[in-house]
Amino acid sequence: METLDTTKNKPAIILDCDPGHDDALAILCAARHCELLGITTVSGNIDLEQTTRNALITTQLLGLDTPVHRGADRPLVVPARHAEFIHGASGLDGPQLPPLERSPASHEAVRFLIDTVRSRDDVWLVATGPLTNVALAIRTAPDIVGRLKGISIMGGGTSFGNVTPAAEFNIYCDPEAAEIVFESGARLLMADLDLTHQFMIDEDAIDRIRALASPVATFAADLLTFYGQAYAQAYSGRVEGPLHDPCAVLILSHPHLFEIAPHHVAIETGGNVTRGMTVVDTRGGHRGEAPNTDVLTKIDSDAAFELLLETIASYG
Ligand code: BDR
Ligand code: CA
Repeated sequence: METLDTTKNKPAIILDCDPGHDDALAILCAARHCELLGITTVSGNIDLEQTTRNALITTQLLGLDTPVHRGADRPLVVPARHAEFIHGASGLDGPQLPPLERSPASHEAVRFLIDTVRSRDDVWLVATGPLTNVALAIRTAPDIVGRLKGISIMGGGTSFGNVTPAAEFNIYCDPEAAEIVFESGARLLMADLDLTHQFMIDEDAIDRIRALASPVATFAADLLTFYGQAYAQAYSGRVEGPLHDPCAVLILSHPHLFEIAPHHVAIETGGNVTRGMTVVDTRGGHRGEAPNTDVLTKIDSDAAFELLLETIASYG
């Protein structure tokens, strides 16, 4: 298997996302540590209008001119669902946001994905929202699978879910799209809940970010304060939240922070109580199905947090 050591060059990526607090921090990491070719937006944490707006405002706050392409406004089959209970009514509640000055580069994210992948041979897709745009691109232009370096996905869970006991939000929102992606034959990396829940940001961590005392640090700290409080209310009672989406970026730019295990992952599209589950075959040996996914199993969360701090500080 091709090594993930990308120390020589920054990995070229398109970030397909649904900002979303952790998506915004994925943008912040991607712009510093990757060649960020573009951002595509999808309905997920909040509706498409708002995820697009949130991607644009995040790039504006970070001083980036990265093009933002608006994508799918609903899953392939089922109605859209959102996660206001974690991300608030705007999808990016917490920070005071300035008036929006940027506008989308296009309303054709799927076209942008296909054209960009066809125009060079080194592109990774990083998907941190429901997989609708990615599935549409693969279905429209199957040749991109052979051109892609791979798809790094935040989604799924090896042993638990967050929307239901079995299903994680990004996969649950659009299981039919996820099935297309996981069966595509593309090289897949999966940062699932078992991994991202090792990278918790608590109040001490937020204080360290805030102490950087820059506009971007304040933005990040305000985001994480709201996010941690929402997680406290929804789940654990503690003000802390898992930093899901940056993991799907950092595995490409800083692979030494992670451990990986190859497994077969299937998507449950039926099931009364398991729809949207990622069924990870951890059996191994001759009973296990041939792996189709590199599942991220461990993160050095202390080092990853120091990197996050450095990254935020780099915005001045
Ligand atoms: C995923 O769902 C969204 O709410 C987050 O942005 C992350 O991508 C975690 O389940
Ligand atoms: Ca997301």
